[in-house]
Amino acid sequence: MGQLVLGIETSCDETAAAVVSGGRVVASNVIASQAGLHRRYGGVVPELASRRHLESILPVVDRALHEAGTGLAALDGIAVTYGPGLAGALLVGVSVAKSLCLATGCPLIGVNHLEGHLYANFLGSGPEPSFPAVCLVVSGGHTDLVYVEDHGRLILEGMTRDDAAGEVFDKLARAMGLGYPGGPLIDALSREGDAYAVPLPRSYLEPGTFDFSFSGLKTACLLHLEKGGRTRQELADLAASFQRAVADVLVTRTVALCRAREVRRVLVAGGVAANTLLRSELARAGAAGGWELFIPSLEYCTDNAAMIASCGAYARRRGVSHGLHLNAMANLPLGRSGCDE
Ligand code: KG4
Ligand code: ZN
Repeated sequence: MGQLVLGIETSCDETAAAVVSGGRVVASNVIASQAGLHRRYGGVVPELASRRHLESILPVVDRALHEAGTGLAALDGIAVTYGPGLAGALLVGVSVAKSLCLATGCPLIGVNHLEGHLYANFLGSGPEPSFPAVCLVVSGGHTDLVYVEDHGRLILEGMTRDDAAGEVFDKLARAMGLGYPGGPLIDALSREGDAYAVPLPRSYLEPGTFDFSFSGLKTACLLHLEKGGRTRQELADLAASFQRAVADVLVTRTVALCRAREVRRVLVAGGVAANTLLRSELARAGAAGGWELFIPSLEYCTDNAAMIASCGAYARRRGVSHGLHLNAMANLPLGRSGCDE
């Protein structure tokens, strides 16, 4: 059996723990979702999230170890998300991981949540991704284009200047009265709609940048919603047109970075990578551009601790470990993985 790493993830509204062997084989993957707690507010309430993490974390870690048929003494490392995310929420996971490492002498590995998302592509028995690669990280809080030279060597090439893609899915779904989280609901409703029914803007910003902007698209959707009708068909048309606009921008920018870096390998990650249209459009662009394309299976797209454990395992192979001074960093940027500090 390969190295056994326990992953812990509490950056937002999922309390998660997982055991991964050899960086790739998921021995357990436990997620206690708080979605029900936050649904009535239409978004995550940070203080409620922290309190719920506190209640859930130890049982979740226990279950992850139990389901993997292992115990703390058998672990080769404990990997924990230490940023970016909600400060109070991150602190719960970081404190628990540090305590477990202090008690067992196990190496502690701090993982950047966004880098962790990339490692969802390493889970399972498919071909192992290699680098260099272009990576698109699209989550509720981030929309980043990254050039990854090798494990632990990430260059942030572009990011959103305002809203993240997932955030706009959530905000539009709330305005439409669909519920939370909005991404899967808009994805499902879009299937009934016409993606070209509502003309919507696509922001490509100035030439040469790989940054994104989604606030103009969000405003256009909200204005349309104020003026337009709200029959199911009208909402479906808006959802489909919005989803098409987001996918167009994300795919166009990814293609551009592949060309600029002369790379034909693309890894996609983050909750929005679960989007049906984005997945099929990336597959199409990948076939046209001759890319090797990696998209995680649906269960590993959204927040989980298996991806954190995998990222930690690869970092551990490079000899990375953190001292007990590791702290939560709410605004940890992607380029700074922290793993190699
Ligand atoms: O990566 P993630 O689980 O959490 C963060 O790190 O933010 O991403 C959550 C985001 C939410 O905004 C959610 O609406 C979006 O991913 N999402 C989707 C889909 N499934 C989840 N967005 C579009 N289509 C989906 N099928
Ligand atoms: Zn995430």
